[in-house]
Amino acid sequence: MPLVTTTNMFKKAYEGGYAIGAFNVNNMEIVQGITEAAGELNSPIILQVSAGARKYANHTYLTKLVEAALVENPNIPIALHLDHGADFEICKSCIDGGFTSVMIDASHHAFDENIEITRKVVDYAHERGVVVEAELGQLAGVEDDVKVAAEDASYTHPDEVEEFVDRTGVDSLAIAIGTSHGAFKFKPGQKPMLRFDILDEVSKRLPNFPIVLHGASSVSQEYVKIIQANGGNLADAIGIPEDMLRQAARSAVCKINIDSDLRLALTAGVREVMWNHPEKFDPREYLKVGRQYVKDVVAHKITTVLGSEGKAPECL
Ligand code: G3H
Ligand code: 13P
Ligand code: ZN
Repeated sequence: MPLVTTTNMFKKAYEGGYAIGAFNVNNMEIVQGITEAAGELNSPIILQVSAGARKYANHTYLTKLVEAALVENPNIPIALHLDHGADFEICKSCIDGGFTSVMIDASHHAFDENIEITRKVVDYAHERGVVVEAELGQLAGVEDDVKVAAEDASYTHPDEVEEFVDRTGVDSLAIAIGTSHGAFKFKPGQKPMLRFDILDEVSKRLPNFPIVLHGASSVSQEYVKIIQANGGNLADAIGIPEDMLRQAARSAVCKINIDSDLRLALTAGVREVMWNHPEKFDPREYLKVGRQYVKDVVAHKITTVLGSEGKAPECL
């Protein structure tokens, strides 16, 4: 089956009170771990690629890895998405290069400028059957080409969303309600808190419209502990509690972005083998364990957080 857009996935997820997992891919083991879990659980899935991933692994390698995953998992819908496109050019390059969905992240620009940049991407994408995600409000954290310091992060203003969606024609909207990128989302002792009131207000103003949650890793302490026990140093890594994400998935949130949890799982597996077996030097031996942990994490997300298990047929 060819790649799909997210249109039908989001419609079904909205109606069914679940969310589609959008997982970042950077290499073969990550693509395999994610899609094997989704294939076994019959779950729709979004594979997303950042500018950093394209720099690291190269556009062609990544798209060919995703093509291989399609062949290996013919029964699940898979969308290929650009994560945090910083400008029109990178969006164009991914649209021309076979992606079915792109994010234009102009959220750090002023409102009107964000609209202008987003509108240009939407026009180009829609003419070619590709869907577009944009962002209003800013999350703290670091992605390769878009960096936001914690003090510059800001919640989405619900009174801006209707005009933004109207004037841009965008297909989904990422909003800032207190999640952030990376593995250190809250300070030790700080109570994790998300602004569900903002999410509710946004969804009232945009009925039946898919909302996206970035920075949604839970930073499983199981993997943090493995990393710590095997020579790592990630003390105080804290993520979004799973019950909050489940609550979001039941609402208008149709896409939940997860990258850090995959990084932690892969690192835990690799560290475990390397730390306990310093004599090993076959990459397959440590990457195999990392890949298995990625698969375990994705399976857990699908069944426990996203609620997308068994939903592949209705999203095809
Ligand atoms: O939101 C950011 C993602 O985790 C991608 O991170 O730019 O380091 O690939 P990256
Ligand atoms: P995490 O860092 O919480 O995994 O967020 C990833 C993300 O939002 C990718 O766009
Ligand atoms: Zn993000």
